[in-house]
Amino acid sequence: MNINIQIRRLTPADAAAYRQIRLAGLQSSPQAFGSTFEAESAEPLNSFSERLGRSAVFGAFCGAELLGIAGFVVRTGVKEAHKGLLWGMYVSPDARQVGLGRRLVEAVIDFARERVELIQLSVVSDNEPARRLYAGLGFVEYGVEKNSLKQNGRYYDEILMARDLGPDLPTLPPPCTEVALREQEFAK
Ligand SMILES: CC(C)(COP(=O)(O)OP(=O)(O)OC[C@H]1O[C@@H](n2cnc3c(N)ncnc32)[C@H](O)[C@@H]1OP(=O)(O)O)[C@@H](O)C(=O)NCCC(=O)NCCS
Repeated sequence: MNINIQIRRLTPADAAAYRQIRLAGLQSSPQAFGSTFEAESAEPLNSFSERLGRSAVFGAFCGAELLGIAGFVVRTGVKEAHKGLLWGMYVSPDARQVGLGRRLVEAVIDFARERVELIQLSVVSDNEPARRLYAGLGFVEYGVEKNSLKQNGRYYDEILMARDLGPDLPTLPPPCTEVALREQEFAK
């Protein structure tokens, strides 16, 4: 697909386009999200614009067409405000595998860097494309929530992933091995 893509943060004025792609995602990939098409399609447009005011949602645009979305929110609570959550990742089927998902997650990482120390997310265990996307951008698996989601009597495990945004750790000196200690003794 040879297209000119612009990534930008959505504003409440994008609510109609956001609602459309969000509902399409919930409908076409119900197993990928914690929420449901039934619940959100019943919500009025202004609840989507309020969501865009509360949360940072990034969109991938081709002209005026919104082809992909990714959300980010800082955790609430004094002791959790150093962590953020990546949520609501979706790319329209016709626009997949050309790098939009990657660019959206990169936009979230850039935005989050100024605000939190860690980005967390959860992904259904059999969602290989999403797991690869996140792993390729430095997210590391740190746990599994068994039976995290339940739909139509079926359970889904979720993989918990996180990407550290903290400063790089200083390089540690090489380990002080027994041999090195002995060499020091001889050098005296
Ligand atoms: C997961 C999803 C967002 C990926 O979006 P995308 O725009 O196709 O992803 P990109 O083209 O940027 O691909 C980035 C990386 O993701 C991985 N990836 C994407 N699609 C893949 C596929 N079908 N199979 C395997 N890996 C895939 C690859 O590692 C790829 O890197 P590469 O191109 O260097 O191989 C998209 O498939 C989607 O919207 N799926 C349905 C909703 C969903 O699962 N959301 C995530 C909820 S946690």
